[in-house]
Amino acid sequence: MDASLQSDIVTELPPNASAPGDAALSGETTAAPLAGKAPDGVAHPKTIKSFVRRAGRTTTGQAKAFEDLGPRFIVPYAPAPLDAVAAFGRSAPLVLEIGFGMGEATAHIARVRPQDNFLCCEVHEPGVGALLKRIGEQGQTNIRILQHDAVEVIDHMLPPGSLDGVHIFFPDPWHKTKHNKRRLIQPPLVAKLVARLKPGGYIHCATDWQPYAEQMLQVLSSAPLLVNTAEDYAPQPDYRPLTKFENRGLKLGHGVWDLVFKRRT
Ligand SMILES: C[S@@+](CC[C@H](N)C(=O)[O-])C[C@H]1O[C@@H](n2cnc3c(N)ncnc32)[C@H](O)[C@@H]1O
Repeated sequence: MDASLQSDIVTELPPNASAPGDAALSGETTAAPLAGKAPDGVAHPKTIKSFVRRAGRTTTGQAKAFEDLGPRFIVPYAPAPLDAVAAFGRSAPLVLEIGFGMGEATAHIARVRPQDNFLCCEVHEPGVGALLKRIGEQGQTNIRILQHDAVEVIDHMLPPGSLDGVHIFFPDPWHKTKHNKRRLIQPPLVAKLVARLKPGGYIHCATDWQPYAEQMLQVLSSAPLLVNTAEDYAPQPDYRPLTKFENRGLKLGHGVWDLVFKRRT
């Protein structure tokens, strides 16, 4: 995600929240791993990735946060099941977040839901530094970061039935048709997520790109074990904050769509 998209949380909802979306505000994309050519700089050239590794400056503050807080809050990737109780130092409901960007929503949600543990994946190093910095500033204890491709984390670290929830907010929309295959919300990834959810666990997605919202609705609705909590798009849950970036788009008449599905019990 572009640095210009990073934002602080705002509390007001603009009046025009249901207007059409705008690609220019959301920047990038997401996708499931499929056979094909990978973007430059990714490790497994035969696998299509949902991200490209972007250059980005890590600030001095972020670098210090890496040094001071990385050892406690970054969980190293390993192709072995995660011991979540050991990683968080407590047993609590576990929520996976894929692609937290600069972590403003992540930090907010972890603050308003202190009873839950948040395992958060992001490949963009300045974003990881930014979330570590927020963790330090806000004294948060219920976030752990995996600086790795979330798809590999799901495949190798998360056993079936290990998750209570999944958050995927403003995943890269990969606007061009030829790039749509990089989108995260596709049947193969959703099937993997559903397998890792406990009965009653949820998947919450949000996007500001209408064609992707429609794809999300179609893919999630087609997953046999998922039930939509709304008729189609869901009201924005209280815990998900409105970011400055999102608020700016809404004021310009762009839409945002939340989708919340639960795994059947
Ligand atoms: C458009 S940004 C949205 C960031 C944030 N959720 C927000 O709402 O501001 C999407 C982010 O997802 C990350 N991402 C995409 N695919 C990923 C993957 N497979 N594993 C981890 N992070 C991923 C990208 O690096 C990028 O920072």
